[in-house]
Amino acid sequence: MSVTNRLARVNPVYFTAKTAVSLMAQAGIPDADKIVRALALENNAPLQNMPDAETILGNAIVVEAKYRTMCRLIEGAGGKTLVDLPCGYTPKAIHMTEHGRTFVGLDLPIVVQEVEPIIRKLVGQSENISFHGVDATNFNSLQTALRDVGGPLCITTEGMMMYFSDDEAETVVVNIQRLLREHGGCWITPDPEFALQFSGTFQAVFGEESLAKLMATKNTAQGQSAVAALGNSFIIEPSDIPASQARAESLLARYGLKAEKVNLGGNMPELSVYKQLTTEQIVRFKEAMRQCHYWHITIDETKRLRDTERFMEESPFALEYAAKKGILHLSLCGRLDTISAPQLLLVWEKVNNGGSIAGVIIDCTQLQYISSAGIRLLRAMQESCSCRIDFSGANAKVKEILQQNGFWMMDET
Ligand SMILES: C[S@@+](CC[C@H](N)C(=O)[O-])C[C@H]1O[C@@H](n2cnc3c(N)ncnc32)[C@H](O)[C@@H]1O
Repeated sequence: MSVTNRLARVNPVYFTAKTAVSLMAQAGIPDADKIVRALALENNAPLQNMPDAETILGNAIVVEAKYRTMCRLIEGAGGKTLVDLPCGYTPKAIHMTEHGRTFVGLDLPIVVQEVEPIIRKLVGQSENISFHGVDATNFNSLQTALRDVGGPLCITTEGMMMYFSDDEAETVVVNIQRLLREHGGCWITPDPEFALQFSGTFQAVFGEESLAKLMATKNTAQGQSAVAALGNSFIIEPSDIPASQARAESLLARYGLKAEKVNLGGNMPELSVYKQLTTEQIVRFKEAMRQCHYWHITIDETKRLRDTERFMEESPFALEYAAKKGILHLSLCGRLDTISAPQLLLVWEKVNNGGSIAGVIIDCTQLQYISSAGIRLLRAMQESCSCRIDFSGANAKVKEILQQNGFWMMDET
């Protein structure tokens, strides 16, 4: 298996960014068509799981409204450096550098290795653009990426937070708080209200048929990301807005952050996709977007910053292994996440050549954290073993994550 395939296997979520840029090209966002061609996606493969042209149109409206409104908010936010986490395959780097910004694109390594040469070819030589492979839940990767970057930062997060578990979402909130403390600036994100934006858009444009089209959209996103829920304590639930909003605000407040809600309807530029809508649909859509907000998040200077100690002790990933009589003995150190999981997958493929491994025993004494990418790999390993994987020496956090995901602790027998 190639390195790229290995990265894709632990991070299927990266494919959602190909869907997003295909939708941007459909909506007529400048330069998106060039990126789609460079990615060889002219056949619209990422959109083929959507059942009909109307569902694609609904998604294109959401994506264009988000892209153009975010560009406007970034331009109004001050601070010369835009940190786009995650940058995906969008043309934002091109737009922002044309508007005098420094652009730092952060995404999973599999995305960055593909998007960077495409953007560089489109903009030519530019010192104002850089890309770095990171995992948003891994602070060291973010800190290293921003080592030489001047503040204040405008960090933007479009289309990522909903793919995380509660624990990962909290870790990302803490990581961004730490970046804002270090560099100054703000964090702008439409993600907390993404479900409200989708349901408001589809309801306004498709009326009674909106529910089926929304369900199809959700199924496509879940299928492409291999994520079960598309929700966590940072995401507002349309079925219980007040309670979920209070929960998201209190997550921010716990880490000394506050959110100003920027009205989407009040800040949305004209969209090219209106050409595909009737006048009534446009009126209803604009009205519905007045019920949605993008969140402009900053450090709350009036609050004492909470200790983020639990998130700070990070050692580099390392692994040791030995295979004896069909059992793989593994010892893991640091974080098993998006960045490190491909290393474990490489070892697994090498040792389990031809399905020779029946069971795995993992010493977790020095393992600090497991993200969804790590869990996905452990599940794949479990599926090819006849005995269950046994874990020992896990710290409380790792134990909780493993148990929540149905894994077995050896120490508990
Ligand atoms: C729906 S796409 C959005 C991309 C882009 N912001 C856009 O608007 O098109 C989701 C992106 O989140 C990225 N992503 C998912 N998990 C991540 C993580 N742990 N760290 C960094 N990026 C992540 C994926 O690689 C993908 O590019």
